[in-house]
Amino acid sequence: MSKFMTWVDERFPATKVWEEHVSKYYAPKNLNFWYFFGSLAMVVMVLQILTGIFLTMHYKPDSSLAFASVEYIMRDVPGGWFIRYLHSVGASVLFIVVYLHMFRGLLYGSHRSPRELIWLLGMLLYVTLMAEAFFGYLLPWGNMSYWGAQVIISLFGAVPGIGPGLSEWIRGDFVVSDATLNRFFAFHVILVPLLLSLLVYLHIVALHKVGGNNPDGIDIKKNKDASGKPLDGIAFHPYYTVKDNLGVAVMMTALLAVVFFVPELGGWFLEKDNFAPADVLQTPPDIVPLWYLTPYYSILRAVTFEWLPGGAKLWGVLAMGAAIVVLFFLPWLDRSPVRSIRYRGWMYKTALTLFVVTFVMLGYLGTRNPSHVDLVLLKNVTWSQIGLVVYFAFFLLMPIYTRMDRTKPEPDRVTGQ
Ligand code: HEM
Repeated sequence: MSKFMTWVDERFPATKVWEEHVSKYYAPKNLNFWYFFGSLAMVVMVLQILTGIFLTMHYKPDSSLAFASVEYIMRDVPGGWFIRYLHSVGASVLFIVVYLHMFRGLLYGSHRSPRELIWLLGMLLYVTLMAEAFFGYLLPWGNMSYWGAQVIISLFGAVPGIGPGLSEWIRGDFVVSDATLNRFFAFHVILVPLLLSLLVYLHIVALHKVGGNNPDGIDIKKNKDASGKPLDGIAFHPYYTVKDNLGVAVMMTALLAVVFFVPELGGWFLEKDNFAPADVLQTPPDIVPLWYLTPYYSILRAVTFEWLPGGAKLWGVLAMGAAIVVLFFLPWLDRSPVRSIRYRGWMYKTALTLFVVTFVMLGYLGTRNPSHVDLVLLKNVTWSQIGLVVYFAFFLLMPIYTRMDRTKPEPDRVTGQ
């Protein structure tokens, strides 16, 4: 084996890369529960690609065959139902994992200098992931696939001047049609997965350049032993490979439990309206995207003020876009002298709690009819409007409250050893 490795190493830096990025990559020794989700996201992405390959073997990207080909996968292809449910449940699990991963960033200030690029690449991953999910959702050619795509693509029609032409260009037709399905298939199976893989690679390269953050938010490179190894660091392999494997085992157990027992999860992972084939003449009563996109959908629908110049739709689209764009600026909006929530004051803690509650509320409201009353007293749309204000206030006031907050001094070495 060692002779073989010497032969390889003379031709390719295999051992060097392994040591630099795995066996001699020193990660902080205090990484906790919240540090599972990056590696879990990678695992679910691989699962999506593998199950996607098998689905593609039997799926037909043709508007007259697509729905039936998915039914064929579910009923006739041996193990087809398992692959399909792994893929549909996997999509939701990937978003759950990514949302928890992002929340960890907010908890421990992982977006702060010098990790701004890791955050920006993460945000690009997030936006690309949303596009991947959106393209994939059209493929089963169910009624919600069809109308969901119709609604989202028509939003581009709100762009002043070029809007109508732009949405026609995206669809490749005057309505969502076979041409749309074909290009969405190309994007979903080739273009976007390639982009995602490249972005994950860059995300990790950026992470390994500066080194990971930790729950104390302090720099472990400040305290090194005589050999230059950080005193508060431990080798990624075997310590964190073992830890991450435990996370993978727990996550896969939960994922498989959903796949086997509640694959639709009451309409949250697969919507009821998507079990009927696309029908141009029958609009579903409530057109809603899947849960991971609904916080933004709620923001879009919260703007109902027709007196706005250009109309409510244009401002709704702008608000929805701004809700995503503002996340890119997080590293520069946060002005706290400390990174981790452990050493921040009550203002950031309160703001973050309010933000999480609001984000979940917006997500829920995005799945409900705007004119109904599903929470207390007020109509759903009114709660969405309140949510919109809190959402933007969290970001736009951040430079003020993070500077005013009374922080605690950070320790010199990581805690809890
Ligand atoms: C498919 C999506 C993603 C994958 C596969 C992924 C993967 C990873 C991995 C493996 C790590 C190192 C382990 C860890 O810290 O948990 C990491 C760290 C990080 N990721 Fe991601 N990530 C993804 C999406 C995102 C998103 C959407 C964001 C934020 C917008 C983000 C921001 C970060 C940050 C700031 C770090 C450094 C964390 C620290 O050191 O505290 N990532 N990511």
